[in-house]
Amino acid sequence: MRITLGVTGGVAAYKAAELVRRLQQEGHSVQVVMTRAAREFVTPLTFAALSGQKVITDLFADSSGGEANLESAIEHIAVAQRTDLLLVAPATADIIAKFARGVADDFLATLYLACAAPVVIAPAMNVNMWNHAATQENVAVLRARAVKVVDPDQGYLACGMTGPGRLASIEEILAAIHEVTKAQRDLEGETILVSAGPTCEDLDPVRYLTNRSSGKMGYAVAEAAAKRGAKVILVSGPVNLETPAGVERIDVRTAEEMYRSVAGRFGEASIAILAAAVADYRPVERRAEKIKKGDALLAISLEPTVDILAEVAKHKGQKIVVGFAAETDQVAENARKKLASKNADLIVANDVAAEGAGFDRDTNIVTLFSRDGRDLALPKMPKSEVAQRVLDEVVRLRAVLHSPAARLSNV
Ligand code: PMT
Repeated sequence: MRITLGVTGGVAAYKAAELVRRLQQEGHSVQVVMTRAAREFVTPLTFAALSGQKVITDLFADSSGGEANLESAIEHIAVAQRTDLLLVAPATADIIAKFARGVADDFLATLYLACAAPVVIAPAMNVNMWNHAATQENVAVLRARAVKVVDPDQGYLACGMTGPGRLASIEEILAAIHEVTKAQRDLEGETILVSAGPTCEDLDPVRYLTNRSSGKMGYAVAEAAAKRGAKVILVSGPVNLETPAGVERIDVRTAEEMYRSVAGRFGEASIAILAAAVADYRPVERRAEKIKKGDALLAISLEPTVDILAEVAKHKGQKIVVGFAAETDQVAENARKKLASKNADLIVANDVAAEGAGFDRDTNIVTLFSRDGRDLALPKMPKSEVAQRVLDEVVRLRAVLHSPAARLSNV
C-alpha cells in the first residue's frame, strides 16, 4: 500500500521515524510530507534516508526544496492520486483545525482536501490543548467524516503536565491502520468483471463507427474494486488509459468481441459492472477495400449488435449485475426501464448532456437506481468517487439480495 505520512510540528515528531521503519517492514511504501513546524523538530533528511524517497515540505517548491514550477504547483494532486492511505502522526491541534475547517495553506492541509483515500490521524499535544473545546469540536468533525482518530495516550508530557496528549504507541497506530484498511477491503473474495470504453465497428479498412467514451468511468470502477480487494477482470474497448494495478485487462475492439469476452468470463464473476459504451448497431458489411468517394448518396445498412448486458444477465443467478445508462432526456424513466428490461440489479444513470457529466470527463453526475427500489442521486464528483459510491451500493445490494429473506421472496 502507498501510505503518505504527514508529520507535523510537535515533540513527538521524532517518533514518526520509527513509524516509517515499521510501515516499511509491513511492505508499505511511505511518502513523507513535513510541515514547516515539523522541520523545527526533525530534519527532512532523517525521513528521506529512512523512506528512500524525497520528503515533501512546501506547496510551491519542488520536492527537493528548489524553485516553484508548474509540476510542484500541482504536486499535491499527484500525491493525492497515488495515496492509498493518509496518515498524520503526530497531528497537532493546528493541523486538526485546518483539516476540520478546510484550510489549505500548506502542502499537507491541501493534500487532505485533494485526497480521496482513508485518513488516520494520531494527535499529540499538551493536555489542555487536547481537552480544549475547539480541539474536541474539530476532532468530532473529523470523526464524523470517517477520519480514524487514534486517541492520544495518558502520561507525563514533554510540557511537564500529566494527562492525555502523548502520541499513541506505534502498535496502536498500526492497529488503527489495519482496521481502516480491512474495512476498505470489503470486496475481498469477489471476482468483478468490468467493461469500459467504446467499441469500434469497421466500415472498411480505414473507417469505423464509434463513440466518445474515454474509458475513464469503467477504469475508475476497475481500479476502486481492485483496491477494495476484488479480483478484477477488465474488458476494455480501445482507450488511452493505463491498466490499473492488479487488474487483468482484455483488449477488444468491436461489440462482438466485447460480447465474446464478457460472456466468456461471466461465469467466473460474482459481480459484473458494465460501463462500456457498446455500439447498438454495426455495419451489415465490412468492405474489404476502402469505400471510394463518389457523387451519389451513400447509404450504409446497419444491424443490431448483441445487447451484452441483457444477454449475460439472463443467466445471472446469484451474481450482481450493474449496468450504466447514458441518457440525454427522461433519465430516470429510461434508467428504470433499462433496470427491468436488462434484468440488472443496479443501473447507474448519467445525463450525458449535463455539464461535468458523461463522456470523456474526469467528473460525472449519476443517479443509482437499485432493484430493491432505492434511488440515490449523487452530486457532481470525480469519476474515482463515483466508482466508490457505485461499489458501496453494490455492497449494500449484496447484503440485501443475498439475505435469507430476499432469497425466499426473490427480490
Ligand atoms: O468512458 P467515459 O468517457 O468515462 O464515459 C463514461 C460513460 C458515459 C460511457 C459511462 O458512464 C456510461 O454511461 N456507460 C454506458 C454507455 C451506454 O452504452 O449506455 P446505454 O444506455 O446505451 O447502455 C445501457 C447499458 O447496456 C450499458 O451498461 C451498456 O454497457 C450496455 N449495453 C449497451 C449496448 C449493447 N449492445 N450492449 C450492452 O451491454
